[in-house]
Amino acid sequence: MGVGYGYGKTILFGEHFVVYGMPSIASALESKTTCKVERIEGNTYVLVDERPATPGYKKEKFEEQAASIENVFLAAGLSTSGNPVRITFGGDLKAASGVGASAASCAALARALNDEFSLGFDDKRINEIAYEGEKGYHGTPSGIDNTAAVYGGFIWFVKNLSGGENTMELLKIGKPVEIVIGNSGLTSSTKEVVGDVRKLKEGNPEKFGRIMGEYGGIADNARHTLQAYDLHGVGKLMDRCHSLLQEITVSCKELDLMVEASRKAGAYGAKLTGTGRGGLMVALTPGKSLQEEVAKAIEAEGFFAIRTKIG
Ligand code: MEV
Repeated sequence: MGVGYGYGKTILFGEHFVVYGMPSIASALESKTTCKVERIEGNTYVLVDERPATPGYKKEKFEEQAASIENVFLAAGLSTSGNPVRITFGGDLKAASGVGASAASCAALARALNDEFSLGFDDKRINEIAYEGEKGYHGTPSGIDNTAAVYGGFIWFVKNLSGGENTMELLKIGKPVEIVIGNSGLTSSTKEVVGDVRKLKEGNPEKFGRIMGEYGGIADNARHTLQAYDLHGVGKLMDRCHSLLQEITVSCKELDLMVEASRKAGAYGAKLTGTGRGGLMVALTPGKSLQEEVAKAIEAEGFFAIRTKIG
């Protein structure tokens, strides 16, 4: 039997803009997706998906997941028909839009195949394979999700638009800081939302250029304020980033409601995280008691809140 894992992630800065070569900052979560592969007789793989998940998530992602599994096998030099296995996904990462669940499962599967078939891949290669897997979920992934899933930690990521190596730096901050992640309970299609943003960019290059320009300043500032541990500064930048994400139409009323509720409850900043139009938001809530207040405010609106840390 081969085993593997991949971390979930939260994007603090840069979802969508990262697809166009802007810097992004993401933190891996403590929660992971795990994968077991066991060789079986037969013509193809058998999938047992035991991940905890937002209701409806697995059904909606089923076809993309199948494409992604094919891609991972292929990139690993295997085939689903030539190497039949039982694939069992599990772990404590709740699969939902926005948490990097697809990338975590691609990384976990790549690692488990590496283990079972003694392929000798290092993390760099596992990351490349997980990236191919991510393409099953949407055609033009930036690579940030699989990078966070494979390496963990707190990362600064810039996609290389010419196809060369992406930039990835591990960031260090003073000490870990509490966050709350709010789950809208809605599953969104990354393929669709990324496609719509591309249309917006192509249809209105001036507007998009202005937004990208402003975002670029936010990203550089965010890196410095994070490293200086100026958490109020980081929070303000998160708020501003949420407004830009609203402008590119990737927020929705449920996310806006949770963002507002978090700010009212005292969060230093709050924004959607990941694909948007459903999925998740993140609030910066240093200290256990503020974290609790904000989580309760989100729960009072009828949503599910995760209390965790970044950095
Ligand atoms: C999804 O977690 C993040 C997006 O920026 C897509 C990507 O980076 O591939 C929306």
